[in-house]
Order: sequence, then C-alpha cells, then structure tokens
Amino acid sequence: MKILAIIGTNRKKGNITKLCEKILEGANENGHQSELINLYDYKINYCRGCWACTSNGECSQKDDFNQVYNKVVDADVIIIGSPVYWGNITAIMKNFFDRHTAKMTIPLTVRTIYKESLIKKVKFALSSLKTFGPKDDKARKKKFIIVSAATSPFRYLMKDEIPPAIKAMKIYVNKMKGKIIRKLVYTDTLIQFREKDAKMMSRAFKIGKRIK
Ligand SMILES: Cc1cc2nc3c(=O)[nH]c(=O)nc-3n(C[C@H](O)[C@H](O)[C@H](O)COP(=O)(O)O)c2cc1C
Repeated sequence: MKILAIIGTNRKKGNITKLCEKILEGANENGHQSELINLYDYKINYCRGCWACTSNGECSQKDDFNQVYNKVVDADVIIIGSPVYWGNITAIMKNFFDRHTAKMTIPLTVRTIYKESLIKKVKFALSSLKTFGPKDDKARKKKFIIVSAATSPFRYLMKDEIPPAIKAMKIYVNKMKGKIIRKLVYTDTLIQFREKDAKMMSRAFKIGKRIK
C-alpha cells in the first residue's frame, strides 16, 4: 500500500516529524511504500473564498496544491500530522484543508441559490449534504491516521487546547469521506521525559506496523 504522511510544522526535527517518521518506519518494515511531505516545502496560497472553483471546477490559483492533492488521491493511507497551535491545528495545515474546496462536489448553483425559494434552498442543502465529498471518487474512502502534539499536559484538564485540533482533523477526514483508523497524540511535550519519548516513538512504530 501507499502510505503518505502530510505534516504541517516547520520543526523538521520536532515531535510531529519524529512521530510520523516512526509510523512510516513501521509501515516500511511490512513492505509498504511510504512518503513524508512537509507543507512548508510547498507553495500553497490561501483560499481566497472567490468561489471561482464552483464555475470552472478548478481553483483560479496556480501553485503547488494540485501536486500535493494528487498524492492524496494516489495514497491508500494518509497520515495527517499537526502540532497544536493556539488550541487548534497549525495555520499551514488549516489552509491546506481549505484549499480542498475546489476538489469537492460543490454544485454550480451555490452561487445563485440565494435567489431561489426557501423550499428550493432546503432541497439544495439536503441534497448537497448527501453527496458532498471529493469530486474524484478515487479520493474517497481513504484511511487516515491523525497525529498531534501539544505542551498541554492533560487532554481533559486542558480541554480547549487539544480537542479542537483533533476535531479540525476529523472534520477534514469526514469531508473527504474517509475513515480515521488511528489517533496518536503526544501531550506534555514541554517536559519530555526520556521514557515518555521512547514510549511515544514505540507506539508510533507499532501503529505503522499494524497498517493493513
Ligand atoms: C505558535 C505556537 C502555538 C502553540 N500553541 C499551543 C497551544 O495552544 N496548546 C498547547 O498545548 N501547545 C501549544 N504549542 C506547543 C506545541 O504544540 C508543542 O510544542 C508541540 O510539541 C510542537 O510540535 P512540533 O515539535 O512538531 O513542532 C504551541 C507552540 C507554538 C510554537
């Protein structure tokens, strides 16, 4: 299988990078093909919210987004790795998610629906909810592993820090009509006791080994 890790942190020797590399190391042991890409190595502009994609089916901006999206379409398992920044995923990861809009089944009528009757609006909303997802069927039903890291010590005590980041990644997976198969969150990264670091890396490796 093709395993693709997409990470959104500028710390190329940081926690997310190390965890994702370990997962891929585990996967490689079972003969899977793997690739790790860091969004910082690509030029992906912000979504401008212009909705040009609803009339021409493509984003009006020419940058590296399609290159990365094609890798998503091509992969069987996708690892999404982002540290927690200000109680959410990193901005670069969020922008990457936003840019998927052009690849979704947004009906062309989205630009004119506001002029229609209430009943038509409701029908439109219901039908688009049902069909919403990647236009390219090959991009649907992927398996996802989500990876995060935060200095917050306890997930439940600091409930405004880590859960929103996890939720943002879940929203992405849901919109992609994918399925989360594993979650790995490294908490309390400020006080990295050596034993904990080793434990997290070993968990990451096992996650990779269990990919099937
Ligand atoms: C700009 C910035 C914002 C951060 N915001 C949070 C936060 O809201 N909650 C938290 O627990 N940690 C926060 N952190 C800490 C990182 O999540 C933590 O250091 C993480 O391990 C970094 O992962 P990395 O090593 O892969 O870069 C923040 C770090 C930075 C640089």
